[in-house]
Amino acid sequence: MSTSTLSAPQSAPCDLIIDTDPGADDLVALLLAMACPAELNIRAITTVAGNVSLGKTSRNACLAREWAGREDIPVYAGAGRPLVRKPVHAAEVHGEEGLEGVAVHVPRQGLASGSAVQYLVDTLADAEPHSITLAMLGPQTNLALALVQQPGIARGIKEVVVMGGAHFNGGNITPVAEFNLYADPHAAEVVLASGVRLAYVPLDLTHKIITSDERFRQLAAIGNQASKRVVGILDAYVKHDMDLYGMPGGPVHDACVIAYLLAPGLFSGRRAHMTVDSREGPTFGQTIVDWYGVLKRPANVLWLNDGDAQGFFDLLSARLARLQ
Ligand code: BDR
Ligand code: CA
Repeated sequence: MSTSTLSAPQSAPCDLIIDTDPGADDLVALLLAMACPAELNIRAITTVAGNVSLGKTSRNACLAREWAGREDIPVYAGAGRPLVRKPVHAAEVHGEEGLEGVAVHVPRQGLASGSAVQYLVDTLADAEPHSITLAMLGPQTNLALALVQQPGIARGIKEVVVMGGAHFNGGNITPVAEFNLYADPHAAEVVLASGVRLAYVPLDLTHKIITSDERFRQLAAIGNQASKRVVGILDAYVKHDMDLYGMPGGPVHDACVIAYLLAPGLFSGRRAHMTVDSREGPTFGQTIVDWYGVLKRPANVLWLNDGDAQGFFDLLSARLARLQ
C-alpha cells in the first residue's frame, strides 16, 4: 500500500464547476481559481448554505467574482439547508457575514436565474462523458440533490474534489468530524454511492499547509487589491484555528482543492476505502479511512494527506499577482 505524489496537470483547461459556501477560505479558493483562466475553465460557481446562510454565501460568491474581475462567470444559488439533519453554520469561525477582514457590500451583478441543482443536472446531462470536474468546498448538498434527481448525470463527471473529512487529524467541529461532512453527511453518502471518481482534501492535509508571518509578508508583497483582500481575510480567519489548536499558523482549507487541480504534484496521498458516519451520536459526520486496506474493500477515494506547504503559498502568491 503506497503513498504517491500526484502527476502533473493536463495541458487542456479543466472544465470546472465550483460548489462553495464562502466563507473565508472559500473566498481565497475562488480568487485563486479565477486567476487561472488558462488552466481552469470555470463554467459556473454554485452556492450552498454552510458556513453561513445561503443568502450570505451567495452574496459572498458574487463579491469574489466581482473582486476577481470575472463577472462573466455565472453564480447559481442552491440548497438552503442540508438533506436531512438540522442546519449548522460556522459564523463563530467566519464571522456573521461569512467574511471578516474585508468590507462586504451588495454585489454589482446578481445571481443567475434558476437553481444550482437544476444547473448541475442540465450541465452534467449535456456534458461529454467524464468531462467536468467539480470542486466541492462546502457541504455536498447540491450535488447530492442533482444525483438523486437524475443519477445518470454521474457519467458527465470527470472527478469530484472535496474539501472535507478528517481521519488522522481529528475533527474541527466535533472531536472526530470535519465541518463540511458534519454539516451534511447524508449528502456525502449519496455522492460516495454514485461511484464518481473522488479525491478528498481532508484536515489531515490542510492542517499541514498553514500560514506564517513570512507567508503573510509574501502575500502582502504582491501589493494588488486581491492580495490586500486575501491578507485581510486570512489575518482575521486564522486566529480562530491558531488559538484553538495552538498552531503557529492557520490552514486555508478550500484553496488546497484549487491548488491540487493546478499543481497535483504538490500533494501526496493514497487510494483507500472511505465511509462517513451518518448515525446520530458522538461519531456523527466522522470519516473513516481504511488507510492500511485491512477491510480488503475496493478503494473509493483518493485521500490526500500531505503536501508542500511553501509550494502552496508560492503558487497562491504567483497566481494572485495576476489579478487587480
Ligand atoms: C471547511 O469548513 C468550512 O468552515 C471551511 O470553509 C472549509 O470548507 C473546513 O473544515
Ligand atoms: Ca467552505
